[in-house]
Amino acid sequence: MSEMSEPAELKIGDQLISLPVVTGSEGEQAVDITALRKQTGVITIDPGYGNTGACESAITFLNGEQGILRHRGYSIEDLAAHASFTGVAYLLLYGDLPNEEQYQVFDNLIRANYHVDDAIVQVIQAFPKDAHPMAYLSAGLSAMSALYPDYGEEKEGEHDMAVIRILAKISGIAACSYRKVIGQPMIPADPGLHYAENLLHMMFGDQDASDEFRLVRAETLDNLLIIHADHEQNCSTSTVRMVNSSNANMYTSISAGIGALWGPLHGGANQAVMEMLDQIQEEGGDTQAVLARAKDKKDPFRLMGFGHRVYKTFDPRARIAKAGADAFLAQIGKNEPLIDIAMELEKSALEDEYFKKRNLYANVDFYTGIIYRAMGIPTAMFTALFAIGRSAGWLAHMVELKNDPARRIGRPRQIYIGENARDYVPRDKR
Ligand code: SDX
Repeated sequence: MSEMSEPAELKIGDQLISLPVVTGSEGEQAVDITALRKQTGVITIDPGYGNTGACESAITFLNGEQGILRHRGYSIEDLAAHASFTGVAYLLLYGDLPNEEQYQVFDNLIRANYHVDDAIVQVIQAFPKDAHPMAYLSAGLSAMSALYPDYGEEKEGEHDMAVIRILAKISGIAACSYRKVIGQPMIPADPGLHYAENLLHMMFGDQDASDEFRLVRAETLDNLLIIHADHEQNCSTSTVRMVNSSNANMYTSISAGIGALWGPLHGGANQAVMEMLDQIQEEGGDTQAVLARAKDKKDPFRLMGFGHRVYKTFDPRARIAKAGADAFLAQIGKNEPLIDIAMELEKSALEDEYFKKRNLYANVDFYTGIIYRAMGIPTAMFTALFAIGRSAGWLAHMVELKNDPARRIGRPRQIYIGENARDYVPRDKR
């Protein structure tokens, strides 16, 4: 819980009111305006919610000025270096890293639920072949609400089975959509494999890759899933919370989050970054021309993978992804010219007044696509991989919301700027 601090005073016209100020465990402060309209008839307005806290949460702490990201107090650097994705998912959901017994119970439940139900495979098969993987994913999660109408009532010990099913099956649904897109038969899940291994197995099968490549690829993917797992009240997580706040079921709430993440300003940026780097390479590698376009206010083009609502310095995940890209390419002995273009682009932007003045740095999406491509994953699948990692955070926020005593249906207000009252005019008089 937050602590009460010295109240704020607000003067509106000749009315002076006092508003509570709350302070979080990392010293962040917020003016509590829950009584503002009742006291003054006035609301606040904040398009894009850049200055508005939607809730109190104990899951993730961000400090955008210092480039800090922690989950339940653990730094993203430590989690990426030492934890597994399923261990981080447990941490986000339950508040602590699991001990050996807790981990085995959780991981075994997930493995036992990897299987993608036949009905969902039929939904995937019904889609046109070139549908975007995020369309398959959103439909697959929504279909789960028809297959599992328990809506979170079913439990296995401390675990809500809707949570387990979503975390377990979202990766298989993404893999099945990949198999559909490439016109190949689905590959059944293998509960003997850990989370990232099974995802890659369901995508690629036991194709001729060496055991060493498969191991390094799975470890690298597991790491990428960790750095995508949660990021406090971002667009898609806020969407999931909003939908779930009406007591809609978890499956459909996650499906809504997938829709929000799909946008190129959000999770869709990882696909857009690779399309941008490919185009730079095809056009001869001129990074200056791309920077000029990004700075041109008459051009809607933005430097994809750059900028962030919260980070006004480096995104710690971008640093982890860049190091991961270097390590993976070295381990597989692959030379990827796109990483040189990306590094030149980043260096030029960081030296450019336009980007410096606006505190625009590479974000989590800038380097991840280079790793996915080196793994043999097609560009259209990149955002689906982001969604798989973020499903852990979406689920954790729904569990937190469910247990929040301050829980209410989300319903923002507005300031109306339309026509004032006017009389109806019959059509023959208009
Ligand atoms: C993710 O919220 C999260 O936590 C998201 C995320 C997560 O883990 O959930 O971190 C994942 O979505 C990362 C962001 C991925 N998106 C992109 O890489 C797309 C490119 N970036 C931008 O569109 C933009 O930076 C946003 C969407 C990320 C942030 O937008 P904001 O906070 O609304 O910032 P803004 O549009 O108000 O920009 C402020 C200024 C503007 O210029 P001025 O009006 O001051 O002259 O910076 C400029 C913008 O034009 N600007 C850019 C730019 N990003 C901002 N100019 C060129 N290229 C860019 N990428």
